[in-house]
Amino acid sequence: MSKSQEELIELAQRVLTHNYKQQPIVLRRGAACTVWDVAGNQYLDLTGGIAACPLGHAHPALTAAIAKQAGELIHVSNLFYVEAQILLADALVKRAHLLAEPRVFFCNSGAEANEAAIKLAKRYQTTIMGRADRIQVLSFEGSFHGRSIATVALTGQEKYRSGFGPLIEWARFVPFPEDENDMRALDAITDKTCAVLIEPIQAEGGIRVPPPDFFKALRQRCNDTGTVLIFDEVQTGVGRTGKMFGYEHEGVTPDILSLAKGLGGGVPIGAIIASGALAEGFAPGSHASTFGGNPLACAAALTVLETIDRDRLLERVTLAGERLASALAPLVKKHARAKEVRGRGLLRGLALDGDAAPVVAKVREAGVLLSVAGGTVVRFAPPFVVTDAELDRGVAALDAALAN
Ligand SMILES: Cc1ncc(COP(=O)(O)O)c(C=O)c1O
Repeated sequence: MSKSQEELIELAQRVLTHNYKQQPIVLRRGAACTVWDVAGNQYLDLTGGIAACPLGHAHPALTAAIAKQAGELIHVSNLFYVEAQILLADALVKRAHLLAEPRVFFCNSGAEANEAAIKLAKRYQTTIMGRADRIQVLSFEGSFHGRSIATVALTGQEKYRSGFGPLIEWARFVPFPEDENDMRALDAITDKTCAVLIEPIQAEGGIRVPPPDFFKALRQRCNDTGTVLIFDEVQTGVGRTGKMFGYEHEGVTPDILSLAKGLGGGVPIGAIIASGALAEGFAPGSHASTFGGNPLACAAALTVLETIDRDRLLERVTLAGERLASALAPLVKKHARAKEVRGRGLLRGLALDGDAAPVVAKVREAGVLLSVAGGTVVRFAPPFVVTDAELDRGVAALDAALAN
């Protein structure tokens, strides 16, 4: 006999480690932006699996591609070439055409993609440039880059690093720019710096968009000093901001960018795209992943990219994102606790003056799922297939929760 929702949650508390604070529902099924729990309750899902489900749930093309690939070949490892992996790499380099002669490495998550980016930058500096003295990697206060030891060491939020020290000595934080005149971060970049790691928008840090022209100045400083510029596009990549990659808004190109989340439409996959010169840093044996670029994940990701193109979803993200931002703006005037609307495309946040978790819980009770970013920001990261009516319903639920 199947277990009830309460029995499953009680079981979860006994058999799972306690590192997550799950909302108290057990989800079983989804379709587009709707999900159902095991008790049959229906929710509007505007979390999009934390920005990882651009096509929504159970998208017919994605389901069919995964089923077809599963019926042919799920995994063989990188002892061999894999058809779907080659085609996906080709699809990605075509989309990242602003990088010079780009190449792709595949892995399975955002943290792994950032690990690969850092390792590649280090290998490039030491083996190609002959600069083993360029040790330091810089990242920004308030950033989030993952939970592996290296990526957590480069995550600029103490709460994520706590208890894991001493962390690596070559990680250093620089200030997130407060305004367009704040260039303090650039002073720390010298001809001794190996690489700079930055998110186009600080997502887990609270949907913070750096000021205009900051990235141009950063790019220039990295050029002047020979520093590798890495964009962590794990959350902003694959169309989330209305362009395929977040850097396209900034008029600059990174040397390496990392991807994960939306790339597989919910199937775990990570990737880095590196310019050809950088990519030389990875010689045979220098880096690897057993599951990286496996047929199943790559077939899913190819379908995600094809569907984004075919259904013109980037245009939809831009329009829907503007509508969402306009709908959220009046909440700042109406509720003293609401301070600011932030973000780009379908990565938007309403910043509050305190803990956002109780507000998100109230919204859930009204049948809408949202998430918290940076402790005090209510985040919308819905599937790109979200309708206007669904966005309006989400904003109305948030409005009502704030009124309580
Ligand atoms: C910008 C960014 N980088 C890296 C990560 C880590 O990704 P993953 O959880 O897939 O390891 C995240 C996850 O939220 C992220 O938002």
